Parts: sequence; C-alpha cells; structure tokens
Amino acid sequence: MDILIVGSGAREHALAAKIARSPLSGKLYCAPGNGGTSQIAENVAIAATDANALVAFAKKANIGLAVIGPEEPLVNGIVDAFEAGGIMAFGPRKAAAAFEGSKKLTKEFLMRWGVPTAAYFATASYSEAEAYLSDQSFPIVIKADGLAAGKGVYICESRQEASKALGEIMLEQRFGASGDLVVIEEFLTGEETSALCFADGKSLVPLESSKDYKRAYDADEGPNTGGMGAYSPNSIIDAPMADAINNEILNPIMQGFIAEGIDYRGILYVGLMITGAGPKVLEFNVRFGDPETQALMPRLKSDLVDIMLKCINGSLKAGDVEWSSDESVCIVIASEGYPDSYEVGRIISLGEPGGAEIFHAGTKLENGRLATSGGRVLSVSATGPTRAKAREKAYAAVQHINFSGMHYRKDIAREMGHKGN
Ligand code: AMP
Ligand code: GLY
Repeated sequence: MDILIVGSGAREHALAAKIARSPLSGKLYCAPGNGGTSQIAENVAIAATDANALVAFAKKANIGLAVIGPEEPLVNGIVDAFEAGGIMAFGPRKAAAAFEGSKKLTKEFLMRWGVPTAAYFATASYSEAEAYLSDQSFPIVIKADGLAAGKGVYICESRQEASKALGEIMLEQRFGASGDLVVIEEFLTGEETSALCFADGKSLVPLESSKDYKRAYDADEGPNTGGMGAYSPNSIIDAPMADAINNEILNPIMQGFIAEGIDYRGILYVGLMITGAGPKVLEFNVRFGDPETQALMPRLKSDLVDIMLKCINGSLKAGDVEWSSDESVCIVIASEGYPDSYEVGRIISLGEPGGAEIFHAGTKLENGRLATSGGRVLSVSATGPTRAKAREKAYAAVQHINFSGMHYRKDIAREMGHKGN
C-alpha cells in the first residue's frame, strides 16, 4: 500500500527508512519531509498541521496508510480527519491525543488510577497560583498546561524564579492560550527516562528502552534542546525496573484507558523519573520520541508497517514486536548557535557513513546540493554488539560529515561504569 508520513524531522526520516523496508509498503510520500526523506520518498509540500490539505492529497494519491510524526496535528485531530476521509492513520485520535494537549488532564488521569506522579496543583488563576507558591519549598516545577513546543516547563530554584515563570506564562502569555492554565508540580529527582509503547486500544506493548540527552553541551551543560543524542537499550532499565514500570505504571494506565473508554491507538510515550521511591510519570507524549526513534528503529527487527496496522485494527501482540540484541547509539548534529538563533543554507558534505545510518532533520536540497535548513540538522545512528562498538561506529561516521559551524556532543553514550560494558 502507498504510505504518507507526516512530519519533517529525523524521527520521520527514521520511520520512513524503516517503512521503506516493509514488504507491505508501496510508494512512500513524506509531507513536508526534508532533504533525506526526498531520497526514499516523494516529498509533498504540505505542512504537517494542514490536515485538510493532507487528507485531500491522500485521497487523490490513493494513500492506504498515513503515519503521523509530530504531536501538534495529533492533538488537533488529524487522525480523525484521515479516518473521516476513509484513510487509515497511525496515531491516537483527538480524544486520546488530548493528554499531550493538557498536562492537567494527564495529571488528573494519573491520580484517578493511582499511577505514581509528582504532587501537583493546577489553576487558571494567576493570583491563586501566586498564593499557592507562597507556602511551597523550592525547587518547584511550573508548566504551561498546553502545547509549547517543549518550552513551557520551568524548573524554579526560588520563589522569585517561580514568580517570574508564572508571569511569563500567565501574564505575558509567552505560550499563548497554552498558558491559560498552569500546573505547579513537586520537583522530582532521579534518572530521567521514558517508556514508549505501541498501543492498539486494548494493550500497551513497550518498545525497547532508550535514553535521550536534552542539554546542548557535553556533561549535560547548556540549554535544553529538542535532543542531542540517544542510545538503546538504556542500562538503568534492568529487568526488575522494567517489571516495576509495567506493574506500577503501564498496567494501571491501560486499566484506566479501558475503564474510561479511552481508545488509545498509536504510540504512547510515557516520560518517567526513576526516583528513590520508584518510577514516577512526568508526562505523556502521544507520538514517537525524537531522537529516541532514531536509536530505536535500527534495532527493530519486526515489520513496522505490520505493527502499525495491528495497532490500528486492535490485534497487536507482544510477540509481534521483536528487537535485535545489538545496541544502538544516535548522535545529533546541530547548527552553530542552536538551540538559540542559527544560520541556515550552509552546504553539507555527508562523506562515507561506513555502516551508520544518517537521518536528516533540518536539511534541504538546493539546486541539487544538500544544505542546512534547521537547528537540528542530522541524526547519525549506528548499531553494534555493544554500546561501545555502536558508539565508535556512529562517531566515526560523524567525522566524515562536514558543514560550517556544525555542533554535536562528544559524550553521547559514553560509558560511565554501566554494567556489561
Ligand atoms: P515535561 O514536558 O512535562 O516532560 O517536562 C520537560 C522536562 O522538565 C522533563 O523532561 C524533565 O526534565 C523536567 N521535569 C518535568 N517535570 C518535572 C518534575 N516534576 N520534577 C523534575 N523535573 C521535571
Ligand atoms: N526526546 C523527547 C521527546 O521526544 O519528547
């Protein structure tokens, strides 16, 4: 069947590369795609958020399956739009995707089902929020309730910082209507990780574990980014921890979905903090992680299209999702200045990947030459029998890539006394 992938990041390129290898896939399209997807799919110049134009295109092109990458179209109901047009789509429908559209909704759900999460207070009133802060201890976490492109979360070290954050979210409306409501949360400490699951409306089938790096510079310094690298599996998720995540987190979530009639199909990304008291949920995302996907897809042995169709028709079994025992490492290469302002249009030379896979994000073809067009430019992923081998292969490929001002972390997946390595 012909398949349309919606989105333009390295996540979508990694999904497209995997989908392209499925015996079930025919012609591939990517909307809007990037310089990398144009080599394995036909890019279609329609924005990921333009559901009407995407459905119209899909009908005309006789698309059998649409795969949605980013959260914004999902939260806005793009899956419902495809289905209304008679086209199967992978991702949660609007009612289920609402979890990423409102942190308060997620917190209320977690509380109802006894899923461990940080204590919180949610309000739409600035003065109520201010009053609440006056008898809290710090640090504390303040979040805009709605979508904020990953920028609406403030870790506040003091009362003063908390007031400033509240002012930015609620008074200055830095995130627009997404900040009409705030969620104020207990600050959790521990190791941050995630549990990504395939969902078919009846069960959650966890993907392999992974770890991402959010800070811009080595040793977790510098500003937060969309992700500077990842690896899989994540060694902090050993078998007992995987069991705890299943029993304490995923099972009650699924029980809640079923009891409340929430028909969740697609990917559920459960953000977690592994605290001294066990795993606690930070947030739900309703889509694949980026860059986790670029580390996970190279390890997936099963046919991704088959898995997606089973999620859609409610017939996924744990045995349908098989993984290679190889480990993987993904290095993100960014533009000079990212995550702040950066220039685009710099010519990229890719060199010889030497067994690594290169997934594009901010790239485009300009007169037949590959040029930068975004902050995060490329994801370089490699697998190997150990993480160290995968890491070596990924960094070797990075050495062959060149564009002016390219920036990447040198410490992704560096061994830090983890067992088995
Ligand atoms: P979120 O979008 O809710 O996952 O928040 C973004 C980031 O803020 C997370 O990935 C964590 O690093 C951090 N964070 C969010 N909530 C908390 C919390 N309650 N305690 C500590 N850190 C948090
Ligand atoms: N890597 C974090 C995310 O995709 O939300």
